[in-house]
Amino acid sequence: MKNTKKIILITGSTQGLGKITATELAKEGHQIIIHGRNKNKLEKVRNKIIQITGNNNIDIIVADLLSLEDTVKMSNEIITNYDKLDILINNAGAFFNKNREETEEGFEKTITLNLFAPFILMKSLADLLAKSDEGRIINLSSAMHKRGGKPNFSDFQLKNDYKPDKAYGLSKLYLIWISRHMVSYLKDRGINNVTVNVCHPGAAATNFGQDADKGFLFNLIFKVALLVMDKPEKGAMTSIYLASSPDVKNVTGQFFGNRNNIQKPDDRYYSKINEQKVWDYCIEITKKYL
Ligand SMILES: NC(=O)c1ccc[n+]([C@@H]2O[C@H](COP(=O)([O-])OP(=O)(O)OC[C@H]3O[C@@H](n4cnc5c(N)ncnc54)[C@H](OP(=O)(O)O)[C@@H]3O)[C@@H](O)[C@H]2O)c1
Repeated sequence: MKNTKKIILITGSTQGLGKITATELAKEGHQIIIHGRNKNKLEKVRNKIIQITGNNNIDIIVADLLSLEDTVKMSNEIITNYDKLDILINNAGAFFNKNREETEEGFEKTITLNLFAPFILMKSLADLLAKSDEGRIINLSSAMHKRGGKPNFSDFQLKNDYKPDKAYGLSKLYLIWISRHMVSYLKDRGINNVTVNVCHPGAAATNFGQDADKGFLFNLIFKVALLVMDKPEKGAMTSIYLASSPDVKNVTGQFFGNRNNIQKPDDRYYSKINEQKVWDYCIEITKKYL
């Protein structure tokens, strides 16, 4: 009989949508690898998930995705410790401060966490996902991908024109584009059993963006929005659906909003050439680490 238990890696699963996604998928009996950057926090979350679900197959992996070196180390650990990976959910993401900040490796933080990290994980775990009967990559974008404005490829990391919403919007737009590119990358490598889809979880009342100093107006908007946003359980529904529903077994390269609702992302600035530019830029930045 075919083994229906999956091995599922969910980045940023210490809180918010990732934690709910991990808990719900653990209820289905799958082996879940929860990820975060703080070991103590992760251990607490693991214990809680085991307590709620009765599923002991919860592993933890620690990595700061603001470090490309750490992200590559994480993917190497996964490759060493698992024979296959069925589902990769690139869920970790953040909205940063009003002033532009760089990582210790010298990259703008928003683009690093929301774009370079999922790029590294998708690309370096592709062969492990190909060992699954039915591999799935799920990338969390955002409706804010419409709000980044026109991409400027000569200032990719927004050295000259940084605003936190612009950086966030563009990082989530580029994530859609590299997800599309990943579909052809897999095909070119003869991998036909791994799908790649992107989703927008809706506006969900998590801790998302609450701790950043985004400037007076954004700080206020983020606080007030909490009162009217969806419950995180609703926000996590699309990731859970994409990870577990047989309906999307052969669906790839799509953008999902609100569970099973395939939408058209904002393609104002999209072209195959621009998709390739973003992909090539990710390769150029990450090659030293891969
Ligand atoms: N909530 C919304 O309304 C909404 C809307 C659209 C899209 N999204 C997207 O949905 C995803 C999940 O958001 P959420 O609302 O659940 O946010 P959240 O509550 O802030 O959770 C974010 C998760 O990412 C992890 N993370 C942050 N920085 C990290 C780093 N440097 N290294 C490793 N892990 C890191 C956090 O871990 P720590 O515990 O270490 O902080 C946490 O587990 C994000 O990609 C976000 O952009 C959310």
